[in-house]
Amino acid sequence: MNVSMIVAVAENGAIGKDNKMLWHIPEDFKYFKAVTMGKPMIMGRKTFESIGKPLPGRLSIVVTRDENWSCDGVLVVHDLESAWSAAFAEARAKNTDEVMIVGGAQIYQQAMPKADRIYYTEVHRSYDYDAAFPALDKALWQEVSRETHAGDGAEKPAYSFVVFERK
Ligand SMILES: NC(=O)c1ccc[n+]([C@@H]2O[C@H](COP(=O)([O-])OP(=O)(O)OC[C@H]3O[C@@H](n4cnc5c(N)ncnc54)[C@H](OP(=O)(O)O)[C@@H]3O)[C@@H](O)[C@H]2O)c1
Repeated sequence: MNVSMIVAVAENGAIGKDNKMLWHIPEDFKYFKAVTMGKPMIMGRKTFESIGKPLPGRLSIVVTRDENWSCDGVLVVHDLESAWSAAFAEARAKNTDEVMIVGGAQIYQQAMPKADRIYYTEVHRSYDYDAAFPALDKALWQEVSRETHAGDGAEKPAYSFVVFERK
């Protein structure tokens, strides 16, 4: 089973502020949808709340320490070990060999040692932030693909779809 992260990261490591995304790149949403479709997604409670609803076609596994938290259409777990078990079982049931870690900062940090692949959208601009992606140790990760796209010269920054695999 492959454990993959998917994240969009600014030049300065920023991934979010005030529990919101920092940019609007519709192509990155499409990429996220294409990469995650049919695969279980593990996310922190804050990221789930920033998305606001379960996304169709993929099981959302939400990690929270709050025993009272629930939401229709999502699987709630209270520690990461339970998240792995649930995600692996769901992946087997759906005949996929990949589980997705979709954030946010706390979950990326804790799940990093288990990840084999990172779908990493480089956003070629810096932003103010309160949530960041851990710096990648290039001794452990090798870039296996890169596709760069121009911005619009205004709101939309340039970005690159990069894939890293653990060496
Ligand atoms: N750019 C991107 O690709 C991207 C992707 C995803 C998210 N984001 C951004 O990231 C930010 C959110 O990240 P965040 O770090 O603040 O929050 P987060 O990782 O989404 O969620 C944190 C919450 O997860 C639960 N949690 C964390 N570790 C746990 C553990 N070991 N066991 C049980 N529960 C655990 C806790 O929930 P409780 O407090 O309920 O106990 C904790 O408050 C937002 O700004 C969002 O927009 C960006």
